[in-house]
Amino acid sequence: MLKIVTIVGARPQIIKAAALSRCIRNLFSDKISEFIIHTGQHYDNNMSEVFFEELDIPKPNINLNIGSASHGQQTAKMLQGIEEILLCEKPDYIVLYGDTNSTMAGALAGIKLQIPVVHIEAGLRSFNKKMPEEINRIMCDHASTLLFVPTKTGIKNLEHEGFVVGNQAPFSADNPGVFHCGDIMFDNLIHFSEMAVQKTAIMQNLNLQENEFLLCTIHRDNNTDSLERLKQIISALCFIEENLGLKIVFPLHPRTSKIIESSLPDDLYQRLSTNKNIHIIAPASYLEMIMLEKNSRLILTDSGGVQKEAYFFKKPLIVVRSETEWTEIIENGAGIIADADEGKIVEAVKNFLQNNQLTFPEIFGDGHAAEFICSTLLGQMPKNI
Ligand code: UD1
Ligand code: UDP
Repeated sequence: MLKIVTIVGARPQIIKAAALSRCIRNLFSDKISEFIIHTGQHYDNNMSEVFFEELDIPKPNINLNIGSASHGQQTAKMLQGIEEILLCEKPDYIVLYGDTNSTMAGALAGIKLQIPVVHIEAGLRSFNKKMPEEINRIMCDHASTLLFVPTKTGIKNLEHEGFVVGNQAPFSADNPGVFHCGDIMFDNLIHFSEMAVQKTAIMQNLNLQENEFLLCTIHRDNNTDSLERLKQIISALCFIEENLGLKIVFPLHPRTSKIIESSLPDDLYQRLSTNKNIHIIAPASYLEMIMLEKNSRLILTDSGGVQKEAYFFKKPLIVVRSETEWTEIIENGAGIIADADEGKIVEAVKNFLQNNQLTFPEIFGDGHAAEFICSTLLGQMPKNI
């Protein structure tokens, strides 16, 4: 039996882990056993527990309960906690998702103990090292033995950094295996899309009709920690509702809700909070979120995962960052980078409201990334997609 230790900590990792756990349970339960460590990076019920219940993920074997702290403190505590468990559990692989501090801590703990590191969602680059995530993903990729890459751009990024696609086994951190396997979040979307229709009432609860609203999420540190950027985004949302006839649905990440409550100027706060067509809601569950995405007219976000889900649901995307890792979406014309600039955001919305001719060629694989990953872990080496 192959034993893996999976590290989760932040919301998107819990969601991604659902796809692999489900695949192990359904197809590989006699060959792979999984031990889940939750670092506790996200801890509110609606940022963590809700996903385990809704997406039927096995309860974590251990929750380190690290919680929020500065980058150094948080990562150091995680590293210490993960190392202790790896020494006891002695897995064949440590499996990591994405680019958070939990990912980084897992990568360091694994490589130092010479436990092969598996990075799912490898190869992404923003080419902006001011992003904490960019540092985390570069370090994690370079500590990995197996790199599972969602897009062709991710493969090219790794090749530029000296990785070789087509390396032969046996793999190691010095001879890593790089695989183009599609996006594991797409596996989830296919699996849960219909269930979201059956099991959620968020459209009825908010009294929303299909295509009458813009869905927005914001949580990146440079958008929340810069009041100027946050003001531009919020002001754009108000303008769009007041002038372009779109309702707004805005599930708030706790980081964003804290800063809006504490620091947004009074006039803008009033304009936002008294507008009955701007629905500011608590973080949505995954099924609620994909229901909102599916029914939205447009999606405006700085989230990595929500950008991709916009594309999966064939929705026009406005990226409120100065760059994106998901460059294919922009190149296909299905997304516009508007940064945190009110004028550019409003222009992008107008542009998409007039243009219904968008195309969405397949760029995120076939929805079987988790099977690909499990087979590769077992040494069966499927062909790159
Ligand atoms: C983290 C990841 C980011 C990812 C995001 C997904 C890093 C460096 N950042 O950002 O890459 O896109 O998760 O959502 O790892 N908070 C709560 N309750 C919670 C969790 C957080 O109130 O359950 C608040 C705390 O005030 C905390 C702040 O949110 O200080 C930021 O949380 P943190 O996990 O440090 O970073 P995120 O912004 O969530
Ligand atoms: N998500 C959710 N509820 C929300 C906002 C996002 O379930 O209120 C889901 C979303 O559908 C996607 C994932 O969380 O699957 C993205 O996570 P997040 O935006 O927190 O982080 P990122 O992807 O930017 O790292």
